[in-house]
Amino acid sequence: MHGYAQFLNHKGRPIHKGANYFAAYERHFGPYINRPITFLEIGAGNGGSSEFWKGYFGPLARIVTLDISPACKEFEDEQVAVRIGDQSDPAFLQSVLDEFGPPDLILDDGSHIMAHVQASFDYLYPRMSRNGVYMVEDMHTAYWDEYGGGLRRPESFAERFKSFVDDLNVRFVRENDGSVKELGAYSISAYESIFVIEKANFINKQMMYLGDRSRRVNMGAD
Ligand SMILES: C[S@@+](CC[C@H](N)C(=O)[O-])C[C@H]1O[C@@H](n2cnc3c(N)ncnc32)[C@H](O)[C@@H]1O
Repeated sequence: MHGYAQFLNHKGRPIHKGANYFAAYERHFGPYINRPITFLEIGAGNGGSSEFWKGYFGPLARIVTLDISPACKEFEDEQVAVRIGDQSDPAFLQSVLDEFGPPDLILDDGSHIMAHVQASFDYLYPRMSRNGVYMVEDMHTAYWDEYGGGLRRPESFAERFKSFVDDLNVRFVRENDGSVKELGAYSISAYESIFVIEKANFINKQMMYLGDRSRRVNMGAD
């Protein structure tokens, strides 16, 4: 049993997730079940989520959890590593990368403060696996001023995420002032409260027009 059913049957330490998050987890994390991966979750909470992810991904997954609270160290076990530090501190994040290597999957469920979300993304996204998945959850806070968010506020991670649409299409942008950049991603996905970026090291972008041209009936369609 994994996914939503696993969550509903969770009886260990407390875990705090939205029910609707599990469809996104299945879609973006599901292909990594029973694969040899490094999964990094920012935000240990009360320890239930690392227990959950361990059961979700299976025995080949290295689960690494970061939290600012030293009390979270007690969640460590033979498969779960907990490192204590601030998710917005590049030196701390680098120490985690040095120890565990580039994560394949990252889930930011930390402070949900915009400056922290942005700092973690800025540091970790370029350094994670070149085919990895970066997910940020509880992004309703991107619309709340007490977290540094707000509708169309530049600091909001929702605004940043919207700009990724342009980044994905950078080669077609004719009036690029330098602000639109290659994202190194195959896709971005938005759900209520969840943003996902799927990286891809290589994408064949060749436009192809195949088939027997003599059978065209719509000459205006080329
Ligand atoms: C929403 S809880 C995590 C919930 C857990 N992932 C779950 O699913 O049950 C957020 C966690 O982020 C931690 N946190 C807050 N600010 C942080 C920061 N600047 N760096 C790292 N962790 C932080 C808190 O201590 C808290 O444990």
